[in-house]
Amino acid sequence: MRTTIGWRADGPAAALRRAPLERRDLRPDDLAVRIDYCGVCHTDLHALRDHDGAAEHPLVPGHEFTGVVTETGPAVTRFRVGDRVAVGNIVDSCGECPMCRAGQENFCHAFPTLTYGGTDRQDGSTTLGGFSREYVVRDRFAYPLPPGLDPAAAAPLLCAGVTVWEPLHALGVGPGSRVAVAGLGGLGHLAVKMAVALGATASVISRSPDKADDARRLGAHGFIVSTDPEQLDSARDGFDIVIDTISTSHDLSPYLRLVALDGTLSHIGHLGPLTVETMDLLVGRKKLTSAGSGGRPATAAMLDFCADKGVTAEIELLPSSQVNEALDRLRRNDVRYRFVLDMSDLS
Ligand SMILES: NC(=O)c1ccc[n+]([C@@H]2O[C@H](COP(=O)([O-])OP(=O)(O)OC[C@H]3O[C@@H](n4cnc5c(N)ncnc54)[C@H](OP(=O)(O)O)[C@@H]3O)[C@@H](O)[C@H]2O)c1
Ligand SMILES: [Zn+2]
Ligand SMILES: [Zn+2]
Repeated sequence: MRTTIGWRADGPAAALRRAPLERRDLRPDDLAVRIDYCGVCHTDLHALRDHDGAAEHPLVPGHEFTGVVTETGPAVTRFRVGDRVAVGNIVDSCGECPMCRAGQENFCHAFPTLTYGGTDRQDGSTTLGGFSREYVVRDRFAYPLPPGLDPAAAAPLLCAGVTVWEPLHALGVGPGSRVAVAGLGGLGHLAVKMAVALGATASVISRSPDKADDARRLGAHGFIVSTDPEQLDSARDGFDIVIDTISTSHDLSPYLRLVALDGTLSHIGHLGPLTVETMDLLVGRKKLTSAGSGGRPATAAMLDFCADKGVTAEIELLPSSQVNEALDRLRRNDVRYRFVLDMSDLS
C-alpha cells in the first residue's frame, strides 16, 4: 500500500478532517494521479448525509478531478508520466456485459465501481474519492485532458458535465431544439452551456430570480421563475426537452406541463421513487426519462466537444482546507456555480 492525504468523514454529522489515506500499489494497468483539482458535487452532500460512519468505511468524497500522471503500471500504453488526465465518478466496470460492450459502462449490469464508496473489483476494498492528493486508477477510466481546457474549470465536466452531456446527446439536442434546464446549479449551468454550444435555444427554470442575469450570460434566452404560476403558464408546452437537475424530491407536474408535444422530461437531479400523474404524460404524449454519468466513449467525446467549444464550469476555486465551508455553502445553494478544491495544500 501507499499513503496519501485527504479529507475524510467518520460519520454523517462529522466535518471532513485531514487524514492519511491508503491507496493500493499499482497493478499492471493502473496509473497514479496527483490530484490537482476536484469539484464538489451535490452528490457528495447526499453521500455524507447517508453515510453510516462505520469505522471500517470512512468516506472520502470527490468524483470529478483533474491532475497529472506520476507513475504508470507496466501494461499502461495510453499514458505517460506527466500527462494531464481527468477522472470521473466511475473507475471500473465488468467490461463484458452488453452495456460495457456498448460503451455504456455507466450502466454496467454488474454495476460500475464508483470512485468513492464503491467496491474494488479485485480486492473488495471500499474506494476512497478525490478529495485527496493522489488517486490510483485503472487506465481505462482515466481520460486525457485536452489541451486548452483549464484543469480547474474542467474538473466538474467529469461528473456534472458528462451527466448532462449524455442525455442532451441521446435526445438529439442540436440547432432548433428548445431546451429548458430546471435548477441552475453545477449540473444545470453546464447543461445550459452545452445546449447553447450544440446550437439549441436554452432557457432556465429556477426558484432563484437573482440568477437571471447569470443565466443570460451563460447563453440562456429565457428565464422562468418556478414559483410564479403566470410565468409557468405562459411557457406551457414550450420545450422539446426539459433537463431537471433539481437536487431534492419535487412535484414533476409543473415541469411536465412545460414539455411540448412528444417532448421529453429528463429527470437527472433527484434519484429515488417518485409519483407521476399519468395525465401529465398523456396530454401531449410526453416522455419521462433519466440518465446518469457517462460511458467511456461519451466522456471522451464530451471532453473533445468542450475543448472545441471552450465549455468549462464557472467555478469558485478554494484551497482544499476550506472543504467544509464549500459543502456548507453548497447545502445553502450559495454557489455560482461549482466549487473546485485546489489540492496543492495537501502536499
Ligand atoms: N444522475 C446522475 O448521475 C447525477 C450526477 C451528478 C449529480 N446528480 C444529482 O443532481 C442534483 C444536482 O446536483 P448539482 O451538483 O448540480 O447540485 P447544485 O449545484 O446544488 O444545484 C442544484 C440546483 O437545484 C435547485 N434546487 C435546489 N433545491 C431546490 C428545491 N428545494 N426546490 C427547487 N429547486 C431546488 C437550485 O437551483 P435554482 O436556485 O436555480 O432553483 C440548485 O442550484 C443532485 O441531487 C445530485 O446528487 C445526479
Ligand atoms: Zn457528481
Ligand atoms: Zn459491465
